[in-house]
Amino acid sequence: MSILIKNIKKLVQVEDEPKPLVKGKEMAELQSIDDAWLFIIEDKIADFGTMVSLDKAHLQSNDEKPEVIDATGRMVFPSFVDSHTHLVYPASREIEYVDKIKGLSYEEIARRGGGILNTARRMKEISEEELYRSAMQRLKEIMAYGTGAVEIKSGYGLSTESELKMLRVIKQLKQNSPLTIKANFLGAHAVPSEYKGRQTEYVDLVVNEMLPRVAEEGLADFVDVFCDKGFFTVMDTERILEAGQKYGLRGKIHANELACSGGIQTGVKYNALSVDHLEYTGDEEIGALLNSETMPTILPGAAFFLGMVYAPARKMIDAGLPVAMASDFNPGSAPSGNMQFVLSMSSIAYRLLPEEGVNATTINTAYAMGLSKELGSIARGKKANVFITKAIPTLEFMPYAFGSNKVETVILNGLVTDPEKF
Ligand code: NIG
Ligand code: FE
Repeated sequence: MSILIKNIKKLVQVEDEPKPLVKGKEMAELQSIDDAWLFIIEDKIADFGTMVSLDKAHLQSNDEKPEVIDATGRMVFPSFVDSHTHLVYPASREIEYVDKIKGLSYEEIARRGGGILNTARRMKEISEEELYRSAMQRLKEIMAYGTGAVEIKSGYGLSTESELKMLRVIKQLKQNSPLTIKANFLGAHAVPSEYKGRQTEYVDLVVNEMLPRVAEEGLADFVDVFCDKGFFTVMDTERILEAGQKYGLRGKIHANELACSGGIQTGVKYNALSVDHLEYTGDEEIGALLNSETMPTILPGAAFFLGMVYAPARKMIDAGLPVAMASDFNPGSAPSGNMQFVLSMSSIAYRLLPEEGVNATTINTAYAMGLSKELGSIARGKKANVFITKAIPTLEFMPYAFGSNKVETVILNGLVTDPEKF
C-alpha cells in the first residue's frame, strides 16, 4: 500500500536530519515546503519534495500505482502527539464543575471527597467493557482532531484491582486502536478514602503491591505521581520513582500545579522523561531543568478550565528550555482532548509563536513519550501519522482560528483512517 499526496499547499515541519526535541530559539524554527508532495509506503514516510521535483522523483514501492490524493489548497502536518491524558474514566463530572463556577477551588472539591475520589468510586462500579467502550469513543474524537499518538494514565483506580483494570483497558486500546498509545501507571494520583490519614501506608501499597503487579503483567510504559500540595510529597515521589526504576519504568510526573512543590527538582533528580503542569515555576525550577533530559510539559486546558495562573512558557523558552504542550484530557480539570485547541492556547494564553506551538504539540510531546525517533515530524522513515487540513490560508490560521476543526483527512500508520470506523 502506498499513498502519494500531491499539490500540498504547505508541508509543515519537515526534517532532513531528525532531532529528538527542540529547545530555546530553535522552537521558533519550523521547516516547511510550499507546493509539495509526500510519498508514503506501507506505514512509513518514504519521501517528500517540491512539486517541480515530482517528475524526477523515483517513487518506488511494490505497488503498481499509489493511491493519489490531491491536496490543492490544503496543508499537511505531522499528527499531534498528546503526551498527557487521563482519558480512561467512568463518567464525566459536570456537576462538580458547577461547584467550581460557584467558587469552590479544585483542592476544596477534592477535600470534600469530590474530584479524583469521586471518579475512583465510580471506577469500582463500572465494567471493563463499558470502560473500554467509552475510552474508545474518546480516542475516535481526538483522532478526528488530528491526534496520532497519546499517553494514557491510570490513577482513578486507587486499589490494586481497579488500577489493574484501568491498565488492562489501556492495553486493549493499544491493541485495537490505530493510534500509538503509551500507558502510564499513576497509582499515586490521590490518597483513597480508606487510607485517609495513612498516606505513607498507601504509598507502601503502591510500591510493594501495585508496582510489582503492573510490571509483572507488563501493563505500563511509565510511572507517574501527583507530587503537589495536598497530594503526594517529595518523599513519597522519590520512593515511587526509585521503585519504578527497579522495574525499568521511567517517571513522568505531575508537578507544581498547585504550589512550588519541589516536584520539578525531584523529577530532574530521578531523570524523569517529563514533568507536567508547571504553573508554579520560578528561576530555581528553570535552573534545575536546564541541562536535564526532562521535558517541561504544560497543560493549557487544565489551567484554562480551572482558572489558574498560566505556567511561564515564554520565560522558559527564552531561558533556553524546550516546552511541550499536551491536553491533560480528564473529567475533572480538562474535559477536552482537542490538541488544535491546545495549539491555539499556546499562542493565545502563553504567547508562543505559531511555529513554537506546533513544535510544542508534536516533536516535543513525542520526546515526552519516548517516541521522537518515530513520530512528531515529517521525516523519512518516521511513522506515517499525518493529517491533511481543510483549505486554509496560512500556517498561522491553525492557532488563530480557535474552536473549529481544521482537520479534513486523517492518515494513521500509512492508511487514510475514518475515526468513526473504529
Ligand atoms: O492532571 N492534577 C492531577 N490530576 C489531573 C486531574 C484529575 C481529575 O481531576 O480527575 C490533572 O489535572
Ligand atoms: Fe494530569
